[in-house]
Amino acid sequence: MLSARSTSTPAGDVARADVAVVGAGPIGLAVAWRCAARGLRVTVHDPAPGSGASAVAAGMLAPVSEAYFGERDLTGLLVESAGRWPAFAAELTEATGVGLGYRTDGTLLVGLTADDLAEARRLWAYQQELDLPVTPLRPSELRDREPALAPRVRGGAFAATDHQVDPRLLVPALRTAAERAGVVLVRGPVRALSDLDATVTVVAAGCGAAALTGLPVRPVKGQVLRLRAPGGGTPGFRHVIRGYADGEQVYLVPRAGGEVVVGATVEERRDTDVSAGAVLRLLRAAVDLLPELAEYDLIETAAGLRPGTPDNAPILGPLPGRPDVLAATGHHRHGIVLTPVTADLIADLVTTGVPDPLLAPFRPDRFTGPSGSVAADRGEPARTSEEDPWN
Ligand code: GLY
Repeated sequence: MLSARSTSTPAGDVARADVAVVGAGPIGLAVAWRCAARGLRVTVHDPAPGSGASAVAAGMLAPVSEAYFGERDLTGLLVESAGRWPAFAAELTEATGVGLGYRTDGTLLVGLTADDLAEARRLWAYQQELDLPVTPLRPSELRDREPALAPRVRGGAFAATDHQVDPRLLVPALRTAAERAGVVLVRGPVRALSDLDATVTVVAAGCGAAALTGLPVRPVKGQVLRLRAPGGGTPGFRHVIRGYADGEQVYLVPRAGGEVVVGATVEERRDTDVSAGAVLRLLRAAVDLLPELAEYDLIETAAGLRPGTPDNAPILGPLPGRPDVLAATGHHRHGIVLTPVTADLIADLVTTGVPDPLLAPFRPDRFTGPSGSVAADRGEPARTSEEDPWN
């Protein structure tokens, strides 16, 4: 489609980009970085770079513990992208000199009560059927790995390959890498694709993709807390912990600097208000699993909007009838883990015009009828916030 040699623009048309990326979150910045590395002239458009879902994301790289029933294609892509993460992190750190908080301690999966454990085991059995590495642990093995767990935690398992990165380090690093590679960041909203002057447009605008493309991307609210270990210490646990606690699901993500991310609600809502009830439920579940968290400072409460899709999987590839407009959106719970594979595959598609077979299950036209229009019953209709009577 585009090659570095084909990038010359008509005389006087210096502003024209080969690739315009809408959205300066991790997906948009990584796509831009990869495209610039292929010799293309790239702009990224965003009124507030890095202010979307990634601003509150915990950064779990969790292809195993987020392998849910009925999502096999998505799980395959998660595994593929998680496998690319070590090299991606190393390359990004080399390009910027910035550490990303990439940690490979692994993830403990735990159940507080017998009922919680029964629910968790059902999912672990499914994950094992997919040959994903989930290792059941005896209670003593669980405590050997993480002595800070509450004595009443009934049991658990270990997902050694589920790692973590800090999105608040990742996004600035991607921006630095992209800008060093020649990407131009344009701070401003894109109200319509026709506003952009580029050979190819990549829509990586998270929930904003709906209004721009008509694709069925809807906000899925997540409320998230941040705690800090007392006295400037490090958290008293090292694994990511994902637990069922009296029917609540919670994850606890420790950072080297002393922060612990506690998440997250999953709500079919489009506001970013933080509710007392959600804070209460998250904290209760967190402290039930790890009692020492009651002594930590509560330093932040926040809510973000995941870009959800009707099948929970991302939308990657050309819009129906628009080979010049590529979607890279709808990453829902998985934006951080899917960043490397999305960036590689979309940059390859931009430069070769040939979609990698890995993209096949995620094509935008899976949601369209024969006419190419988005099927009305597959997702929330696209609306701008101004038009939305419920907003
Ligand atoms: N991937 C974690 C979340 O979306 O809450």
